[in-house]
Amino acid sequence: MRYRILGKTGLKVSEVGMGTWGLAGKPWGWEAPDEAESMRALHRFVELGGNFIDTAWVYGRVDEPNVHSAEELIGKFINESGNRDKVIIATKIPGKNRKWPAWKGVSISEVFPDDYIEEMVDSSLKSLNIETIDLMQFHVWQDDFVKEDGWKKTIQKITKAGKVRFWGISINDYQPSNCLKTLNTGLISSIQLVFNIFHQLPIARLFPYAKANNIGLIARVPLDEGGLTGKLTLETQFNDPLHSVYFSQERLKEVVPRVDALKRLLDGEARTLPELALRFILSFDEISAVIPGTRKVANVEANTSVSDGRKLSDKILEELKKRTWERNFYVDLDPAMKDSGYIES
Ligand SMILES: NC(=O)c1ccc[n+]([C@@H]2O[C@H](COP(=O)([O-])OP(=O)(O)OC[C@H]3O[C@@H](n4cnc5c(N)ncnc54)[C@H](OP(=O)(O)O)[C@@H]3O)[C@@H](O)[C@H]2O)c1
Repeated sequence: MRYRILGKTGLKVSEVGMGTWGLAGKPWGWEAPDEAESMRALHRFVELGGNFIDTAWVYGRVDEPNVHSAEELIGKFINESGNRDKVIIATKIPGKNRKWPAWKGVSISEVFPDDYIEEMVDSSLKSLNIETIDLMQFHVWQDDFVKEDGWKKTIQKITKAGKVRFWGISINDYQPSNCLKTLNTGLISSIQLVFNIFHQLPIARLFPYAKANNIGLIARVPLDEGGLTGKLTLETQFNDPLHSVYFSQERLKEVVPRVDALKRLLDGEARTLPELALRFILSFDEISAVIPGTRKVANVEANTSVSDGRKLSDKILEELKKRTWERNFYVDLDPAMKDSGYIES
């Protein structure tokens, strides 16, 4: 496993991290999580040198006794294995209004009121059963929040109390520059963003700023929620609401041919689509870590094996540039959003 520095945090993170949206709790993607396999996957990840685990307060959280959320399962793993010192834990505070993304014009008092930020840090610490969160991220953001001072004072207070080491923002999908004014405050060390073969807009919109200002970039959804695994067919059905819509029958008709065309690029540089997708991301030095969603030992092994320092050639990168497919899931979901200022082109 190779390591990169996570921007201003100075933390040395494994360049292949572990995304945990589907790790525990409710059905997600193709199937319900299997806690025992998720636990084995966490162990294997650390055994293979992985140290960067990305989670969120909301992942897998259901109000049912004996069903762990992702944070709780990670906490169980850390405490049972005694691996606290071996892992860097990043989690997220959901917006109080539980709306994704944060629309332009929404007030921060609806999304991240000061006392709520403190409450949620305490709640995540309890679920993770740890004393300090390495990286706490806001799970949605609007750059206009920069005008308010409450959150700034609150996060400084929490950091001083030793509950959080560093702060980041997990920015809205497809809006790579909706954070730049906030980054100028110097209070935020990392940005988590959607970045993959289809969505390459961040290269122009965020990478130059991040490089110049030492902001760590965490690439989420590297496999397009499963699209870039090459496993989807026109008949694939999902059993959770998000993927059922993201990969509706109409959407699959667009995804599958594009992915089939990408498969024809596989050669000595990448033998499988997930490998191509992860190598594409790791070919950019601006990226500190890529966090494929992993809850199975086999996927942990395949994904971590990509960390061998081999970047894609300029020829393939040029070819992949042509395969960009900028979409906007939220606008597709609700055409009224077209006028909401959501599209960043
Ligand atoms: N707003 C936000 O902050 C936000 C939003 C989305 C994601 N995230 C973070 O980013 C992480 C990654 O995104 P994601 O999980 O949504 O999507 P993703 O990583 O693009 O795709 C995950 C899917 O790929 C499959 N997969 C992973 N490795 C594979 C391999 N080697 N071969 C074949 N299939 C493979 C997984 O399979 P199985 O289902 O079979 O395990 C899962 O279905 C999340 O887990 C989460 O930590 C954050």
